[in-house]
Amino acid sequence: MPNYTEEIKRRRTFAIISHPDAGKTTLTEKFLLYGGAINLAGSVKGKATARHAVSDWMEIEKERGISVTSSVLQFEYDGYCVNILDTPGHQDFSEDTYRTLMAADCAVMVIDASKGVEAQTRKLFKVCVMRKIPIFTFINKMDRDANDTFDLLDEIEKELGIATCPVNWPIGSGKSFKGVYDRNKKCVITYFDTEKGTREGHSRELPIEQEDLLREQLGGEATDKLLEEIELLDGASAEFDLNEVRKGDLTPVFFGSALTNFGVEIFLKHFLEMATPPLPRVADIGVVDPVEADFSAFVFKIQANMNRAHRDRVAFMRICSGRFDANMEVRHVQGGKVMRLSQPQQIMADERKILSEAYAGDIIGVFDPGIFSIGDTICAPKNNFRYEGIPTFAPEHFARVRQMDTMKRKQFVKGIEQIAQEGAIQIFQEFNGGMEEIIVGVVGVLQFDVLKYRLENEYNVEIRLENLPYEHIRWIVNKDEVNLEHLVGTSDMKKVKDMKGNPLLLFVNPWSVGMVLDRNKGLVLREFGRN
Ligand code: G4P
Repeated sequence: MPNYTEEIKRRRTFAIISHPDAGKTTLTEKFLLYGGAINLAGSVKGKATARHAVSDWMEIEKERGISVTSSVLQFEYDGYCVNILDTPGHQDFSEDTYRTLMAADCAVMVIDASKGVEAQTRKLFKVCVMRKIPIFTFINKMDRDANDTFDLLDEIEKELGIATCPVNWPIGSGKSFKGVYDRNKKCVITYFDTEKGTREGHSRELPIEQEDLLREQLGGEATDKLLEEIELLDGASAEFDLNEVRKGDLTPVFFGSALTNFGVEIFLKHFLEMATPPLPRVADIGVVDPVEADFSAFVFKIQANMNRAHRDRVAFMRICSGRFDANMEVRHVQGGKVMRLSQPQQIMADERKILSEAYAGDIIGVFDPGIFSIGDTICAPKNNFRYEGIPTFAPEHFARVRQMDTMKRKQFVKGIEQIAQEGAIQIFQEFNGGMEEIIVGVVGVLQFDVLKYRLENEYNVEIRLENLPYEHIRWIVNKDEVNLEHLVGTSDMKKVKDMKGNPLLLFVNPWSVGMVLDRNKGLVLREFGRN
């Protein structure tokens, strides 16, 4: 066993998935507070920053030289070294948000108790399912009026298709929120509303068998309801099984209030215990063990610099195995070169820290002179293997790109191809056409602005975007078996191809996908593309 085994085993790398406003930022701030590593002010992307309009956002990119959304936060807690990967939401929701999940070993799902499962959570959840990573649920905002607890759990099970196991159970909500019942300890933890930002307050623990005390503290009605619900729950909910959790089939559920800091530390403690250390990853030589194998990593995100003055890019790598040392030589497999990584850094929300070492589970950002692509493998020079590629996620917005000055054709094609290669956009062509007509697909609409801005500023090409009505894309899995010329489509379907010539179908309506499958027996479609 290498002498750094313990360093790897104590790492926990996770992403938070949620719909905007569910409380991801607030919860992250509270985690950091327990970690004690970072002072609160400005450590997580500030509210003001998150809600900036497009033009301001560009300014921020320019000023800082790197996107404010690219943060990876690391802190120590209870002997663990925790890495939180930021999953950009709001307007800057993009493919990067999905790709970040490829770098995480588990996910925390934050749900607003009065809203239940929302659209963005559903999308991100799908990626977690594809990866079969453990998902821990925090039902937030219990200090506000919440939906019925059984209904919330039911919704998660039905909408997301994952079994739930409540670790604790809320007693009331909103003004009558009294605390939670800890099913393990069999006691009630009373709600204590703390000042914003302070550590967890002095909750009391009341054993469930001391009914008189409960009645005195919670009131008769709340106690009766609780006792009834516990009985129902013990009969109805899934048994807690750590194996099921680790396979991503069962999600432990916690209730609390990030804002008033109730239930956050209990959640953090439990989920760090239940979560896995860095997991083995699949490569073309088989499974690579995080502890036993030499250094290896893969690129999951490339952040282009919006600042013309220094047009560097940063490649984000997830270390999958071994130990990284800033002076060591590594092999960039796809580039076929042995090299030293330039300026390896850990990138926090608003600072870059030069790293001297890092371990499996950690994320590093390195200066990229334009050699890395998303999905590339980096490993020890004596090795030569490739990790499984990162899927291409389905864009949901499409536009036809028109160039204003046709004389600048070459720059236009070069620019758009490079930006696509960085993974910020996907480009398609008419099924029977060439590069004269380009259709751009993006996961988040902000990417359209980024594309326009970058083509103008970096390639001196002006474009006009004409929105297209398509929202659903499908890759054709068995393209060699079906005759694409004779495919029976629907009136809202469009056939396109990607830059490698792979055929794809675009749809306006989701139900058309089913109709096309019905009309073309044997056709197999997929929502994710494989590189
Ligand atoms: P996000 O990152 O998921 O988008 O959510 P964020 O943490 O920014 O929280 C969104 C809003 O919800 C914020 O209010 C925040 O204060 C509030 N919030 C988060 N957790 C809780 C909670 O447990 N209880 C209650 N009652 N509110 C919560 P805001 O008014 O939009 O911002 P602010 O002015 O309070 O900063």
